[in-house]
Amino acid sequence: MIGERMKIAIIGTGYVGLCTGTGFASKGHDVVCVDIDEVKVNKVNSGIPPIYETDLEDMLKDVISKNRLRATTNINSAIKECEVVFICVGTPSDDVGRIDLKYVRQSALDIGNALRECDYKVVVVKSTVTPETTENIVIPKIEEASGKKVGQDFGMCMTPEFLREGSALKDVLEPDRTVIGEYDQRSGDTIEPIFKELNAPILRTKIKVAELIKYANNAFLATKISYSNEIGNICKRLGVDVYDVLKGVGMDHRMSPYFFNAGAGWGGSCFPKDVAAIIEKAKELGYEPKMLQEVVDINKRQKVRMVEQLQKKMDIKNKKIAVLGLSFKANTDDIRDASSIDIIKKLLDSGAIVAAYDPQAMENMKHIFPGITYNENATETLRDADACLIVTEWEEFKNLKDENFNIMKNKLILEGRKVLDKKEIKDFDGICW
Ligand code: UDX
Repeated sequence: MIGERMKIAIIGTGYVGLCTGTGFASKGHDVVCVDIDEVKVNKVNSGIPPIYETDLEDMLKDVISKNRLRATTNINSAIKECEVVFICVGTPSDDVGRIDLKYVRQSALDIGNALRECDYKVVVVKSTVTPETTENIVIPKIEEASGKKVGQDFGMCMTPEFLREGSALKDVLEPDRTVIGEYDQRSGDTIEPIFKELNAPILRTKIKVAELIKYANNAFLATKISYSNEIGNICKRLGVDVYDVLKGVGMDHRMSPYFFNAGAGWGGSCFPKDVAAIIEKAKELGYEPKMLQEVVDINKRQKVRMVEQLQKKMDIKNKKIAVLGLSFKANTDDIRDASSIDIIKKLLDSGAIVAAYDPQAMENMKHIFPGITYNENATETLRDADACLIVTEWEEFKNLKDENFNIMKNKLILEGRKVLDKKEIKDFDGICW
């Protein structure tokens, strides 16, 4: 470890909290993870992550064996014994797309109560919150509950997270950059050593700016994908491959070739929620963010475009359609806002018989579509199918060969993600737009 060893409390042992805490502990800090869920806390203390994430189990076991990390339900004592408190609780969407701050408010209240009997500490919001939340809600709540004053008795920062599912630990330990929004210099100076050793540029800025960076970042990435889908839809009408077109565009140094993959649209736990939240925040501020609304609408239409393409080629009523891939992206069992949900719904509404396979996500999908067939592998799913839709870019689908598809009744394959090798598979003309 390069910097000083710090005592860190992490409130919320979900995806962000556990990965961040484990990452910090691996750098030599003393981390205590707090959660209200006793089952979760017990699991973490036994070295079993309650969520699946690449390398997390090994790293968690390692830091626990070195006494660098432990979990507790006792928020009060965790806060009292640390120098920095990270708020990593969830901020789910409400009915109209605004973020629901109930867990953030509760954390602020708990922190405030604990701070009553404490010396100076810095509180850091890492949960994704819309601009002004930290200053208008979190700080007043902590001040009210603690009777103390920000900037004097405690410090305040906001550091957005940019973790991707599937590479979250790598993203904690090797970020492109760290953004520190700080109430004052002392707050920022206190937490900077934690991030300095990650060898990435650090941007120190105002709290409101840091909050907006997170949303502007995700909204831009979602926009980039919707843009590539729009170009893809034009390509389809021209009979050219959007991947060839965007390869050429991505070579311009003002662009970047990443996040240019056209296909069945974006989903997951962050993009839909974050774009909706920044749209609602903009409206609250009196601005109508038309481009972002269109980004969302393009995505909504894009998700079912595969089925529409299929319907142009055949009447799908009473036909067996094989759906390969259910998770919102590869290497996760997460189906939140996955394109497969809209696709299967449209298939069923059109009278098709759906057979599905996913290496990880079938159990989750059974709660949404209990009545469709789930197969143990891709080959079984393809047997006697009238068409196949590839919806998630799982590595194992890349290895599918011509003979795997030859068992279909009708070899019609549409790709929602670029997966198959055109040269390997006969009678297949690539991504469906
Ligand atoms: C995202 C952000 O990348 C991360 O920084 C943030 O903290 C959380 O949200 P994640 O939801 O894990 O991470 O997934 P990501 O890999 O970004 O993919 C999001 C969606 O976009 C997926 O549905 C994916 O299939 C889709 N996507 C991604 C595309 O359609 N094309 C692309 O080129 C890239």
